[in-house]
Amino acid sequence: MDEIYLNGSFLPRSKAQISIMDRGFLFGDGVYELIPVFNKKVFLLDEHLKRLKNSLNLIQMNEIKGLDKIINTLIKKNIKNTFFIYLHITRGVQSSRNHIYSENIDSTILLMCEDYPAFSENLIKKGFQATIQDDFRWMKSNIKSISLLGNVLLKNHASSNGCYETLLVRNKRLTEGSTSNVFIVKDEIIYTPKLSNELLPGVTRGLLIKLINQNNLKVIESDIYQLDLINADEVWCSSSTNAVVPIVKVDDNIINDGKAGSITMKVYEITQDFIINF
Ligand code: PDD
Repeated sequence: MDEIYLNGSFLPRSKAQISIMDRGFLFGDGVYELIPVFNKKVFLLDEHLKRLKNSLNLIQMNEIKGLDKIINTLIKKNIKNTFFIYLHITRGVQSSRNHIYSENIDSTILLMCEDYPAFSENLIKKGFQATIQDDFRWMKSNIKSISLLGNVLLKNHASSNGCYETLLVRNKRLTEGSTSNVFIVKDEIIYTPKLSNELLPGVTRGLLIKLINQNNLKVIESDIYQLDLINADEVWCSSSTNAVVPIVKVDDNIINDGKAGSITMKVYEITQDFIINF
């Protein structure tokens, strides 16, 4: 678990070093991906690499080739079967601290394996609490940026209030969670905020939409208002670490009598099946 990849070499995590002049360290100037590996098989790699390419493009960085080979080597080196690859690319090291970046510096490329144990089915069935906060982050949340201070503060707000997630609202509209996308159910129809610069195009979000459509359920990508959220029949959050996390209380509002909803659990099971058979 301790072997990582940094700028061309595989080495123990404890031996890895980066320069204090790295623009990732000084400016948060870079992007990342978190890619699940289930049973030694990398999950939805093309979708993750496509999003990475788009994030790099949106910050005027070039595409990085050969990441799939590095990922395969890390999987082989890892004794565990199921874990996550954390992939972190910064604009690189520059000799002086300057907001303006040099065009010809080499990117810093880090890949390492991380453990995020999935919630047990029992915990999933019990459901989780969430809280609502104003989405004060920047207007380019579609970029998977390593500058995560907003998300860090918002996730810690959830955690210090006994919640799994902070659900974010801007101009009365739901954008996403601090580390997840959000789905609601009303009158048996599933809704999720439509993609824009205000939310991350979650790989799990995309997968769930596909699986929902294949399983005779209806999902609509649209605006969701704060009132729709608190009056929803069911709510869940999605991310690579836990694909479907039922939300049964949003601040003081009890959702579905405080129980994980039947449509949420159906989507949870369909997704688990997909992961097992992947
Ligand atoms: N984050 N929105 C935000 C702000 C996120 O940070 C994440 C995931 C998602 C869901 O994206 P995906 O389904 O591709 O994991 C949505 C990961 C888990 C993280 O930062 O650790």
